[in-house]
Amino acid sequence: MRVLLVTGKGGVGKTTVAAATALKAADRGHRTLVMSTDPAHSLADAFNMKLGDEPIEVSDNLVAQQIDSQHRLEQYWGEVREYLTDLFDWSGLRGIEAEELSVFPGMDELFALADVKDHAVSGTYDLLVVDCAPTAETLRLLSLPEILGWYMDKIFPVERKVVKAMRPVLSKVVSIPIAGDEVFDAAEGFYGRIQGVRDILTNPFVTSARLVLNPEKMVINEARRTYTYLGLFGYAVDGVVVNRVLPDAITDPYFKRWQEVQAEYLEDIEDGFADVDIRRLRLFDEEMVGVDKLRLLGDELYGDIDPTSRLSDSEPFQVLDDGDDVVLAMAVPFADKSEVDVVRYGEELIITVGTYRRAFILPDSLRRRVVRRAKLEGGVLRVTFGEPG
Ligand SMILES: Nc1ncnc2c1ncn2[C@@H]1O[C@H](COP(=O)(O)OP(=O)(O)OP(=O)(O)O)[C@@H](O)[C@H]1O
Ligand SMILES: [Mg+2]
Repeated sequence: MRVLLVTGKGGVGKTTVAAATALKAADRGHRTLVMSTDPAHSLADAFNMKLGDEPIEVSDNLVAQQIDSQHRLEQYWGEVREYLTDLFDWSGLRGIEAEELSVFPGMDELFALADVKDHAVSGTYDLLVVDCAPTAETLRLLSLPEILGWYMDKIFPVERKVVKAMRPVLSKVVSIPIAGDEVFDAAEGFYGRIQGVRDILTNPFVTSARLVLNPEKMVINEARRTYTYLGLFGYAVDGVVVNRVLPDAITDPYFKRWQEVQAEYLEDIEDGFADVDIRRLRLFDEEMVGVDKLRLLGDELYGDIDPTSRLSDSEPFQVLDDGDDVVLAMAVPFADKSEVDVVRYGEELIITVGTYRRAFILPDSLRRRVVRRAKLEGGVLRVTFGEPG
């Protein structure tokens, strides 16, 4: 199975590109599911039909689904949420406030991603296309499994043991709500789902992220940041779609200046995203809504290329031998030297790029070694591990 994550700044054309990509793949015979977590139901608007929480057939080999994240939340987080609500309630927060706090931001979308694992196991589809939320939310979301994983590995088992030992005593002397086993079971069950998802999403042979952008300054800048952070979290970007390019056929003087501006930005994009596939998509003369128009758009976007193939083979991280040393190489394109910080903490390597931080659990082969140096060059962070002592 292949998974394509389509992301980019708000309004650049993510949903349109996701829908057209899925349709093109389905037309080539791949059993395809396109899913969206956007509560605004824009996927339904793109296909110009009604969609729901269950996959609905849109075309041959193609089904589409709009995840009802609230429903998923109740299903998998209900127990934990009830407990947290009680806890906040006890601490003086009332009603709605306590309820709001029992779910952390981005969590509902995380539940939608959990479905990816079920689909991978079931083998029903050859391709999953995920129409992601605008970049900021997507990044937060894609970093969550890692943060959650850290919490579950380090804190949770301790907490659970302590609570188990203390519960009989605590419940006699204080009125603080104490988490029962069902709360821990629910949290653990959820974590199990998420854990598998991360393995799928960070395997570059399975999952590729595609960035949609427009030839505009701010959109490009945001795409570059996204590219950095996706690399940091271990997600492989294989392509960029430059959408809404003014066609040469437009000779109207009003648009002439715009064409020149776009030409400049297209060059910047070619330079900046040199290691991934870059595809251009023209600005059509109408809204591209409905299966027929999306098919046309998909044909222009991919031509003879199979959209499920890896459009470039960039990988988020590699472990390489260098004489007696071992090098951990990780793509953090566009990161500035001054922004990157690497600290070793036990079996973890903590890499900070700007405001994002990744606690990287070192593979066994590296744990016994010592960090000699870290170097950022050409968008690749190389951390060299030498023999101990
Ligand atoms: N190349 C194009 N030519 C003409 N219209 C386009 C093109 N790309 C997208 N559109 C139109 O622009 C609108 C916005 O596109 P879309 O919904 O795909 O953006 P989005 O990035 O998913 O937005 P959001 O961030 O709100 O989810 C849609 O009406 C779509 O039909
Ligand atoms: Mg959208």
